[in-house]
Amino acid sequence: MKSKAELLVVNGRLATLAGFSDRPQRGADFGRLGLVEDGAVALVGDKILAVGPTTQVLDQVDSSAADIIDAGGRLVAPGLVDCHTHVVHHGSREMEYSLRLAGASYIEILKAGGGILSSVQSLREAGWDPLIAQTKKSLRRMLSYGITTVEAKSGYGLDPEHEVMMLEAIRHLNELQPLDLVPTFMGAHAIPDQYRGASDRFVALIIEEMLPRVKDLAFFCDVFCEEHVFSLEQSEAILLAAKKLGLQPKLHADELAATGGAQLAAKIGAVSADHLLCADEEGIAALALSETIAVLLPGTSFNLMSRYAPARQMLEAGVAIALSTDYNPGSCPTENIQLIMTLGCLKLGLSPAQVLAAVTINAAHALKRGDIIGSLERGKQGDLVIFDADNEAYLPYHFGVNHTWKVVKSGKIAYDKNNEEVYF
Ligand code: NIG
Ligand code: FE
Repeated sequence: MKSKAELLVVNGRLATLAGFSDRPQRGADFGRLGLVEDGAVALVGDKILAVGPTTQVLDQVDSSAADIIDAGGRLVAPGLVDCHTHVVHHGSREMEYSLRLAGASYIEILKAGGGILSSVQSLREAGWDPLIAQTKKSLRRMLSYGITTVEAKSGYGLDPEHEVMMLEAIRHLNELQPLDLVPTFMGAHAIPDQYRGASDRFVALIIEEMLPRVKDLAFFCDVFCEEHVFSLEQSEAILLAAKKLGLQPKLHADELAATGGAQLAAKIGAVSADHLLCADEEGIAALALSETIAVLLPGTSFNLMSRYAPARQMLEAGVAIALSTDYNPGSCPTENIQLIMTLGCLKLGLSPAQVLAAVTINAAHALKRGDIIGSLERGKQGDLVIFDADNEAYLPYHFGVNHTWKVVKSGKIAYDKNNEEVYF
């Protein structure tokens, strides 16, 4: 007997990204879209039931009771995975934007008690309800761009109570709306004022008090390893302590200077090393030999008017690359991952197929979820996006606008361009 499909997408140009559930795409494999022309995806419950040429899928499944979406030749891709965000935050920092336009640097603003620290103050003052309301609005916008899974970091609490609150907010938001949030503890995001000049005491607070409290609320632990923020030694101590408690390490590395962050990430087996604008040859070589994925964030370079990560060198060395928004109120205030794909092409030198792989299967691996999301394959989560585009090059090419036509999340239509208000 044929299995019953509940939802069927037919007549699409499928970018399946199939065949890489066990490893990210790198080297010559990077950008293998697994295209199926005139393809179909059948879904049942929250899972994918069948994928292939439309005629073949129609033969395989019982579609008599299925809702049918005719993609009309449009591009159908796995739901996009935004694998590095600070989406949970309160307020905005356009004053800082003006200061930067007048010449102040990101790190000068942070050292003067602004930047991340002003978002910390804003979050502590706002409390729970405004935090949930603002984040929900951002998640809705992310969904509209085709994102179905979002990594979400803490790090605007910076004391045990508020760090726990942020992670509880992430847990609550997971229940409240359709996107999947993957929680990351990032208590080591900035050094609070009262620990200035005594950062080791703050590191001790993170290790001794915060980590034990957040270990069941977070999946990853991340650290902002940078001059004037957390040193290599402090970053290593925090991530090793986190690992002992079962958290997976990630690292903000070599963003503003080459400090050996990439090497540290590779050495401790971090799942990803993120930013890497200043990564040097040694750092790139270390990543190439490791399983650590380079998560590149070109929207941050764009917004901070700084240099871009050496993506071509990484690619040639064999480093696995993912792309993400880094959505946050300071260094990259945008949820538009399609714009990030454009920057991936124009500023990092990647091809349209490579940027699509970088925000799907490779981003899924950067969240250790390559086995359940990031590609259109039987048994995977029913997350897909249909773009109002004929092919993958059209997405980054026609830049700055939203190409999403429909999004299916866990087997259900969660966004429809023509009916925006209904589903969220
Ligand atoms: O990834 N680099 C550190 N953290 C964030 C910025 C957070 C903020 O400015 O609020 C980033 O760019
Ligand atoms: Fe970040």
